[in-house]
Amino acid sequence: MSSRSVREEPVVFLMKLSSPAKINLFLRILGKRPDGYHELASLFQVIDLCDSIDFSFSDKDSLTCSDPGIPLDGSNLILKAADLFRKKTGLSFGLKAHLDKKIPFMAGLGGGSSNAATTLWALNQMHGSMIGLDRLKQWAGEIGSDVAFFLTEGTAYCTGRGEILEDIPSLPSTSLWIVKPWFGISTPKVYGKLDVGSLERRDPKISLRQFLDGEPSFYNDLEGPAFSLMPELRNLKEQLLSMGYKAVLMSGSGSSFFCVGAMPPKVEGAFVFPATFLNRSAYSWYTI
Ligand code: C5P
Repeated sequence: MSSRSVREEPVVFLMKLSSPAKINLFLRILGKRPDGYHELASLFQVIDLCDSIDFSFSDKDSLTCSDPGIPLDGSNLILKAADLFRKKTGLSFGLKAHLDKKIPFMAGLGGGSSNAATTLWALNQMHGSMIGLDRLKQWAGEIGSDVAFFLTEGTAYCTGRGEILEDIPSLPSTSLWIVKPWFGISTPKVYGKLDVGSLERRDPKISLRQFLDGEPSFYNDLEGPAFSLMPELRNLKEQLLSMGYKAVLMSGSGSSFFCVGAMPPKVEGAFVFPATFLNRSAYSWYTI
């Protein structure tokens, strides 16, 4: 009698996810808080400019990246997210991740925060979706102010440090160009230059209403301090405005701008990327 032996192959769990950038359609700073952060009110929107991350389990954490400029140690938000997931769940696992970097950094596009949110989503999927999305969003706030936003469906009115989220229905698809100067800018330095008393007292709830009514008003209270730190940014904005776009606005704390319109900008000394708004459905991650 012959017996057939069945060799068990090890199960390799591999997951590849897009990790998209964001822009701020308006960004209002309301004041400085006792903890040193600023109270803000902003309409955040995910866009289809994406990194891509491969995840698999391993005996210990390891991270590689297509861009040699990205730190691969514990300061990287992918590894911070893995640490947080372990700490909160009590699970022990090693994460092997490879980041294919497309989103420019020090750009106000939330690339690092998006990578962290994508990692939390991936780890939750790899563990059978054991954690509810609301809890995952709460944890995300511990990594950085913008991280929880990426766990929404792509459009949200964010307040507090940026971690208090109100879901907003998808906005009409809009053609954009992202313009990122070759230099970046430091977020803490931009906030450090901000004089809250000098800002216009616009009501962000009215701005939100205007967006929902299809009469958007684009503004960013961080442009003033960023322009005084780096006057080249003001020149770049003026140059882009002269090209006839419906709007040109710095995203987050800069140094990138988004231009609303279909025609590509002609600029020197900057990277240019086409983009459009991106939303996800309730139970799946962002795809492009
Ligand atoms: O939370 P996150 O690490 O992204 O913030 C980076 C820096 O940006 C903070 O250290 C702080 O200087 C500034 N910040 C702020 N108010 C916010 C968000 C960020 O002052 N709402």
